[in-house]
Amino acid sequence: MFDFLKNLDNDIKDALLSQLRNLWTHTSTAIEGNTLTLGETAFVLEEGLTVSGKPLKDHEEVVGHARAIDLVYDIIRKKSDLTENDLFDLHKAVQTERIFDVYKPVGAWKVEPNSTVIISGDTQIIFEYAAPNDVPELMQSWLAMFQKTCKKNMANKEAALTSYVHLHVSFVRIHPFWDGNGRMARLIANIPVIMAGYPPIVVPRERRQEYIESLSEYHLATGTVIVGNKLLPDIDKLDRFKQFCNEAWSGSLKLVDNACKKQQDRKQKR
Ligand SMILES: Nc1ncnc2c1ncn2[C@@H]1O[C@H](COP(=O)(O)OP(=O)(O)OP(=O)(O)O)[C@@H](O)[C@H]1O
Ligand SMILES: [Mg+2]
Repeated sequence: MFDFLKNLDNDIKDALLSQLRNLWTHTSTAIEGNTLTLGETAFVLEEGLTVSGKPLKDHEEVVGHARAIDLVYDIIRKKSDLTENDLFDLHKAVQTERIFDVYKPVGAWKVEPNSTVIISGDTQIIFEYAAPNDVPELMQSWLAMFQKTCKKNMANKEAALTSYVHLHVSFVRIHPFWDGNGRMARLIANIPVIMAGYPPIVVPRERRQEYIESLSEYHLATGTVIVGNKLLPDIDKLDRFKQFCNEAWSGSLKLVDNACKKQQDRKQKR
């Protein structure tokens, strides 16, 4: 059982888990362009019904993301090391849009190079992610870093936040999949956070621009990652992203607070 659910009655525990699932799923899919609102996301997940006029793809995506959250919880409960196969299973859950194209694999590493455009002042720069040939080896190193991070004693919030930031930024800088990397990062970087007893850090959809800008700043400062390079150079350049993630955390922490208050009220009335 996760620490943030401690001392809650079963109904309050279930309600809090649903709230977290709705918020996490809605924000992460909306950042990626999903058009369902928080209310519609909750409706689809809770009732299993569709929202009139909204794309089928958007429904499938939120259901896939909620399933990926369950997989994340299973990984935490199992207490075994995260493996390449776990990442592939999560990718299959998240990447519900199945395009039958050998260049767009689902549940496998990318086979073609990918890049993004970063805007710095008045200049637009094409930033390349890791080369496909480098990905298997880089991801082995990333998994080793993940293992090490999870084994650290994370007795305080600061340590959990730092783990989230390091795993998130190093994962998206490699960009091991052709698509779905953002949603994957926002899921798996939370594993040590939840293991440490805290609710997941959830990036608010309305702060997408700041999220991308603070990540870009680090990408530009460190360049494309290649085999043999450090996965996390210049950690002092992560201050802005870390500050951003810390602020973002207030959303889920508030939900936990409200659940605890509800529990307190109930105890007093007994
Ligand atoms: N300009 C950029 N600079 C830094 N990081 C970026 C930039 N653009 C995108 N990213 C990172 O890559 C992610 C997008 O990658 P990808 O399209 O593979 O993921 P997604 O899950 O499909 O989409 P999204 O993250 O938008 O939900 C972003 O969420 C962010 O983490
Ligand atoms: Mg995408």
